[in-house]
Amino acid sequence: MYRAELVRMAKESISHAASGTVNQAQDVFRVPAEAYTDEARHKREIDRIFKRLPLVLAATAELPENGDYKAMEAVGVPVLMTRGKDGAVRAFMNSCTHRGTYVAVEGRGNTALFTCPYHGWTFNREGALVGIASREDFGDVDPACLGLKPLPVLERAGLIWVILDPKSTLDIAAFLSGYDDLLQAFGFEHWHLFSQRTIKGPNWKIAYDGYLDFYHLPVLHGDTFGRDISNKALYFAWGPHQRVATPSAQVPSPDTANLIRLDERPESEWDTETLLSGVWTIFPHVSIASFYGGGRGVMISQLFPGENAGESFTTQLYLLESEPTPSEREEATKQFELLKYVVQTEDYETGMRQQKALQAGALDKVLFGRNEAGGQNFHRWVQTLLDTDDGNLQALFLPRRAAAE
Ligand code: FES
Repeated sequence: MYRAELVRMAKESISHAASGTVNQAQDVFRVPAEAYTDEARHKREIDRIFKRLPLVLAATAELPENGDYKAMEAVGVPVLMTRGKDGAVRAFMNSCTHRGTYVAVEGRGNTALFTCPYHGWTFNREGALVGIASREDFGDVDPACLGLKPLPVLERAGLIWVILDPKSTLDIAAFLSGYDDLLQAFGFEHWHLFSQRTIKGPNWKIAYDGYLDFYHLPVLHGDTFGRDISNKALYFAWGPHQRVATPSAQVPSPDTANLIRLDERPESEWDTETLLSGVWTIFPHVSIASFYGGGRGVMISQLFPGENAGESFTTQLYLLESEPTPSEREEATKQFELLKYVVQTEDYETGMRQQKALQAGALDKVLFGRNEAGGQNFHRWVQTLLDTDDGNLQALFLPRRAAAE
């Protein structure tokens, strides 16, 4: 199902490589500097984007077995994700219905029951209240009405999307706009979590701009990725989600990390792994990039706005397709360390300086060139979300594929 789309993008990439072109946007696009600095707008972005849209809060690889769970905070909202004995993932407000504290502390584990650390009420993996401490003393309450509050959740393509608003009726599949069909090609549901870390960065949009931007690669990352890396990018959109790919007939070989020339092979030999090169971003806050240190791997970066406009937090998950051998483990560790340096030291320290300059009033606007269509699309979607009332939200994501065309 996804192959035709992947081949279509590869052919477009080969064609642009031959002509030395990219898909230019119509014009240079300007974003007001205050979009990155204004605290009221920052709060509105959290409310209208992060608390209304589905967010990728976990990879299947983080809770693969029945009974596995993950507890986390997302923009200040405590979330508990569980995999029940039926194998289904559920998400809840991680808040005990007695007096509200977290029933599970932040982290991952495996359990059949969650016992609240405050007074000992107990919930099962399906969120039902199954035990009230000293029930005979407590008084008359109906446990059936006191389960953990469920959140909308969808597991697709080895990723888990959750909406932080328990009352939301947004159709998560529609929001994905068919992009999940392509992500399915990775087969993430069978991958393994190798490592993770969380790093601090500038405003979440400054950080996210970088994931959509190949223009900076040979300059900012010249010492790490090399100065001969292309600064050209093609953008392929499904709704608000965008894949970023270099216009090239050459792509890294899955086996050797050398380059393969697709245009020198018949189309029938173009394998799926090769066709998945590039960066896959998931609006509003995730980027997935492939690497080959220690076997086939991806870094999934999940960005979250901080409390203030000038800060964000990025969790980097490093997933490997196969369980690594000892030598692959060493290579994967080195690769993941390099990516820490690239993102934290090269990208985010530069972004922090950009943040300071904008907060100092150095510029009224920042620019996105005609070659930076991905950033332009992203900022248009952010503005659209800010301008869209709850009643019109669903309409932004229907029908599934037409929005991208
Ligand atoms: Fe959980 Fe009291 S707050 S048992």
